Amino acid sequence: MTELRLVELSADTIVQVNTLSLKPGQEQFLAPVSYGIAASVVNPKTTWQRVVLDGSEVVGFVSANFDPEAAPDYFRSVLWRINVDADEQRRGVGRFAVEALLSEAQRRDFDHLDVIYEAGEGGPEAFFHRVGFSPVGETEYGEIIAEIRF
Ligand SMILES: CC(C)(COP(=O)(O)OP(=O)(O)OC[C@H]1O[C@@H](n2cnc3c(N)ncnc32)[C@H](O)[C@@H]1OP(=O)(O)O)[C@@H](O)C(=O)NCCC(=O)NCCS
Repeated sequence: MTELRLVELSADTIVQVNTLSLKPGQEQFLAPVSYGIAASVVNPKTTWQRVVLDGSEVVGFVSANFDPEAAPDYFRSVLWRINVDADEQRRGVGRFAVEALLSEAQRRDFDHLDVIYEAGEGGPEAFFHRVGFSPVGETEYGEIIAEIRF
């Protein structure tokens, strides 16, 4: 792995981002029900999204919502989606992306970053714990709300 870099989503990278692969069984964890519901509160002005490059290769994607007015409050500073290509997983790409997102949340004067995920085998729970998120509650759909406080 060369040095990882974070770049904005662009015409150059969007095609590669759309073809990032998943390991078998991971698809079901990409979009918790709450995120569908929240589509109505998320708009382009509050969305932050970045592509992770390893050299010139797209290896991951991370997006977040930053909106101090969002309701419920766990949508105010929230990791929205993270996806590391199946062949590039377990090499530190996901941690790199979360650390960059934490810096962005701090830069925007938030004191926390949340994430919502579904527990289950093959899901991202262990990853979120390893990078510092602690469970703080559940959504009405039984998904886990977890948080990092700065
Ligand atoms: C979850 C995901 C982003 C993790 O990315 P990654 O690049 O493989 O993670 P990293 O290599 O940076 O791992 C960071 C830490 O988490 C641990 N970890 C990662 N995946 C893990 C797993 N499945 N089980 C246990 N630990 C795991 C790593 O061992 C590492 O621990 P360490 O730094 O203490 O040694 C990736 O598996 C993925 O894209 N999954 C499919 C999409 C998805 O479910 N996204 C989340 C919902 S939007």
